[in-house]
Amino acid sequence: MKPYVICHMLGSVDGRIKQDIWGFEDHHKYFEETAGQIEADAWLVGRVTMQEFSSKNTYPVDSGTQSVPEGDFVAGGPAKTYAVVIDPSGKCFWDSNMVSTEHVIEVLTEKVPAGYLTHLRSKNVSYLFAGAETLDLEVVLQKLFRLFGIKTLRIDGGGHVNGSFLAAGLIDEFSLVLAPVADGTFGAPTVFEAAQGYEGRKATQFTLKSVERIYSDFLWIRYLVAKNGVPGR
Ligand SMILES: NC(=O)c1ccc[n+]([C@@H]2O[C@H](COP(=O)([O-])OP(=O)(O)OC[C@H]3O[C@@H](n4cnc5c(N)ncnc54)[C@H](OP(=O)(O)O)[C@@H]3O)[C@@H](O)[C@H]2O)c1
Repeated sequence: MKPYVICHMLGSVDGRIKQDIWGFEDHHKYFEETAGQIEADAWLVGRVTMQEFSSKNTYPVDSGTQSVPEGDFVAGGPAKTYAVVIDPSGKCFWDSNMVSTEHVIEVLTEKVPAGYLTHLRSKNVSYLFAGAETLDLEVVLQKLFRLFGIKTLRIDGGGHVNGSFLAAGLIDEFSLVLAPVADGTFGAPTVFEAAQGYEGRKATQFTLKSVERIYSDFLWIRYLVAKNGVPGR
């Protein structure tokens, strides 16, 4: 069993996602207010995006062997919703185990040093392993369902994490807030960063679920993802 997955993004008309030059005064609201209307038990982001929310401090991580209990760590507590980060090498540090009202879950590979696990445990941050050297995203979803009871997951970017879930065929819905702006920055991350080149794969097709005009000139477009050539419904 795994959660139903909705990817939610704010994008320019050319698919870029960094808002540095977009010139909106309150750019967070376009993402946050629409995200808040999508019912989910958790949101998930990539390591780069999460470092905007995690600690700006660097905690010392002892690379030596320390006795840390084996396996996943589910911190106790009354968490109702979760903030999940795909952090294969353990680069996010934490002052507490919360982002806003959400309990943090770190998704790791087994290559992270024991000292990093000690850091997470000292802050009561939950973590799960989903691969030795590389992550198996299907296992990530299965563990989020089984260990934390997450039935609906919102993936909130950035482009690399979206692209890897897309490539693995694990996104059920895509929710795009289309901002009325053309960015045009060479090399800037786009909504889905999945692979280089056109070989050996096909683009993912969507069917329209709904479209709504919001904030005067924005569009909120919701798509279902077609699976194995079958249109989403
Ligand atoms: N407009 C929007 O709606 C929106 C939403 C979110 C973020 N953003 C913006 O997007 C930018 C960041 O996007 P990004 O694409 O550069 O980064 P990202 O997706 O946030 O993070 C990428 C990192 O996550 C880890 N990762 C992701 N998928 C993985 C996988 N399948 N296996 C292993 N590791 C994986 C890797 O970490 P390691 O490098 O540690 O291996 C990778 O470098 C920021 O500027 C942020 O503000 C915009």
